[in-house]
Amino acid sequence: MDDNAQEWTAVDAYLGELVLGRDLVLQQALDDAAAGGLPQIQVSPPQGRMLFLLANLARARTILEVGTLGGYSTICLARALPADGRLVTLEVDAHHAEVARANLARAGLDAVVEIRLGRALDSLREMEEERRGSFDLVFIDADKQNSADYFRWGITLGHPGTLIIVDNAVRHGTIIDAQDSSPDVVGTRAVLELMGADPRVTATVIQTVGSKGYDGFALAVVNDQLSPS
Ligand code: SAH
Ligand code: DHB
Ligand code: MG
Repeated sequence: MDDNAQEWTAVDAYLGELVLGRDLVLQQALDDAAAGGLPQIQVSPPQGRMLFLLANLARARTILEVGTLGGYSTICLARALPADGRLVTLEVDAHHAEVARANLARAGLDAVVEIRLGRALDSLREMEEERRGSFDLVFIDADKQNSADYFRWGITLGHPGTLIIVDNAVRHGTIIDAQDSSPDVVGTRAVLELMGADPRVTATVIQTVGSKGYDGFALAVVNDQLSPS
């Protein structure tokens, strides 16, 4: 389905040079994640910059991330925070968290970012008990079968105006393949259905191509009161 993947990757490389510029901290984070044997499934450099810009636009002071991996997207998001801002990122894999911790320290973000080790659904429940909430931005990028639950938690731990971003919302178009009942695809459909049906949010999905192939980002904002329609 990703027939032009080579061209998309070349264009991402071109845009990276032309528009993004060199970023030694992010490059080192990628190198160390690869050296540590982590899967190379982090957001692409242009996507990471988009996350940074969205966090800036949202004037986010508190960010919740579900799915840390080596901390690439974490760095992109946390860089948008003010000095007294806070990012909590949830990761189940201790080795991923360890690589991320080193990458965040090198990025000078270790004081701003808290990595919570454990199953995200457990961490989210604990955070609610601890009254840790009111996140301005939520980035969902972990096990896709639980994405709808993470989205519900994003609303619970958010507030009117919270921006919720879901990565991998299109999955090479498999979301419309009726034959595909893999847990990731079923989970992605579930979160999209929820975004469309829940009157508490206004949502859209933007399809993307690039070095990660054909995919998309879902964006939702928690409504102040009534939805626009
Ligand atoms: N956001 C990262 C990529 C995350 S990849 C980036 O773009 O840089 C998905 C991550 O979610 C992996 O590190 C995986 O270990 C983690 N994960 C998978 N299931 C999880 C769960 N139930 N709870 C918390 N983290 C989980
Ligand atoms: C893949 C990509 C992702 O962004 C992710 O969060 C999980 C998996 C992938 O390409 O397999
Ligand atoms: Mg992803």
